[in-house]
Amino acid sequence: MKEPFVIAIDGPAAAGKGTLARRLAAHFGLPHLDTGLLYRAVARRLLDAGKDPSDGAAAEQEARSLRPADWQRPDLRTPDVDRAASIVAAEPRVRAALRDFQREFPAAHGAVMDGRDIGTVIFPDAPVKLFVTAAPAARAERRFRELQGRGIAVRLEAVEAEIEERDRQDATRPVGPLEQAPDAVLIDTTGLDPDQVFSTALEKIRARIAPAA
Ligand code: C5P
Repeated sequence: MKEPFVIAIDGPAAAGKGTLARRLAAHFGLPHLDTGLLYRAVARRLLDAGKDPSDGAAAEQEARSLRPADWQRPDLRTPDVDRAASIVAAEPRVRAALRDFQREFPAAHGAVMDGRDIGTVIFPDAPVKLFVTAAPAARAERRFRELQGRGIAVRLEAVEAEIEERDRQDATRPVGPLEQAPDAVLIDTTGLDPDQVFSTALEKIRARIAPAA
């Protein structure tokens, strides 16, 4: 069977993956899946049900019964969900439950997919892999502004501490940890605006898949 065309984008929180993924998807006419939303949706359902996010069996059950409406909710990017998503994402049963859906997503049209383990676990043979990162202070500043823009009151130091803790949890879990695939192209977005990130990515993608770009 022909492998679907996948642009895999991984990296830590608030590095600019989502913005880049959306722009690349529009540019190449590909569907986009923000895989963080799947983990966030599992977390949201557990919190709504008053369950502990570290209850692996309950988290697996939520992951197995997830529906599109769950990851299209508008309330998935709140600080409580940030924390709980990172906890449920460390549960191997949750990762296994979400794996097949992610692997099937690009079957018909290809896809741009962003997350933590797309280029390492979900599509280790993806033709294009980007690892998007930025200095922790720059990422904290971006997330801080984003939350402020949405009227969520937070302190910058608290956002920075949260991001560091989430990075630590994501990078040290035994299953599907955040790491750069050996064949991924690194893009450091510190000091770059979204247009610069997009043009840098496009240049690097063109260098990899010259005829298709
Ligand atoms: O990307 P985002 O910050 O929305 O992801 C929320 C959480 O989901 C992350 O902190 C991470 O723990 C988890 N995640 C993951 N694997 C992915 C995408 C997200 O473990 N592919």
